[in-house]
Amino acid sequence: MPDFGGKTVIVTGASTGIGRATAAAFRESGARVIVAARSSEDLKRLSVELGGPDRVLPVTTDVADPAQCQALIERTVEHFGGIDVLVNNAGMVVSGKFEYLQSGDIERLFNVNFFGVIYCTRAALPYLKESEGVIVNVSSIAGFVGTATTSAYAASKAALNSLGQSLRVELKPYGIGVSTVCPYFTSGVELAKKGILREGTLHRVDGPRRRAPGTQTTEEVAHAIVRAAERRSRLVVLSPAGRLIWRANRLFPWLTDYVMDKLINGRLREQIG
Ligand SMILES: NC(=O)c1ccc[n+]([C@@H]2O[C@H](COP(=O)([O-])OP(=O)(O)OC[C@H]3O[C@@H](n4cnc5c(N)ncnc54)[C@H](OP(=O)(O)O)[C@@H]3O)[C@@H](O)[C@H]2O)c1
Repeated sequence: MPDFGGKTVIVTGASTGIGRATAAAFRESGARVIVAARSSEDLKRLSVELGGPDRVLPVTTDVADPAQCQALIERTVEHFGGIDVLVNNAGMVVSGKFEYLQSGDIERLFNVNFFGVIYCTRAALPYLKESEGVIVNVSSIAGFVGTATTSAYAASKAALNSLGQSLRVELKPYGIGVSTVCPYFTSGVELAKKGILREGTLHRVDGPRRRAPGTQTTEEVAHAIVRAAERRSRLVVLSPAGRLIWRANRLFPWLTDYVMDKLINGRLREQIG
């Protein structure tokens, strides 16, 4: 486990799933952690579980609101004196056939998955310069491999991948590291439950949900995020299955199109006509 003793880490989207596990993993590595999300009660419970507000401070934040992101950063600096790591993890899903998505859904999605990262990063920048800190953006394999029914989500993550690449170069002279971590399917998360699901989404199909081969646990993803922050990794694509799909899409894009058509369109036809 990397040593983040004495460091201050902000994790957005820490009320559930990957963010919650990431807050616990950073705490385990000795960091002081600020946990941010909209669900205040979940954050308070997490803070108590991980040692109380002197170690884990809950700050209720909607990352889609720039003023709340600014307040999150100010509260962190006031409480812990600075920022060493910013983990932009908060995210939501909008799923459904493109023809049924509404413009407002897509705007909401971008406000959280993309602009939320912009607002938190911009507000944290002066303090990250001071500490020569690290930004870790939690993206997704979907940012590299677009699939049917997740067009808006995939586009938001592709934008995030691109942002990370530019910031990595631009912020290098300040000693700030920028990592992009792309999880594959992860178990134990609320992503679809809290998202906007329109007609023609695989999340809505009846029957037991099939778990994709190579699905990881939130703890596995959390440890990869902590390692990425320690090593200042440029890009981390998670799980052997995720890396296989990512590479196959670069080398044989026609093959991924074919497989996605068979898997996703076939399954949608079978389930919803
Ligand atoms: N699960 C997967 O298979 C998977 C795969 C690849 C990438 N990812 C990415 O991993 C990240 C974490 O997702 P997860 O899988 O752990 O799902 P999750 O359990 O739904 O967690 C999402 C977190 O984001 C927070 N959030 C949502 N909207 C927010 C807002 N407007 N302001 C602040 N916080 C907000 C949620 O908390 P509140 O509702 O309390 O605000 C929650 O804590 C996301 O960026 C997701 O895109 C997930």
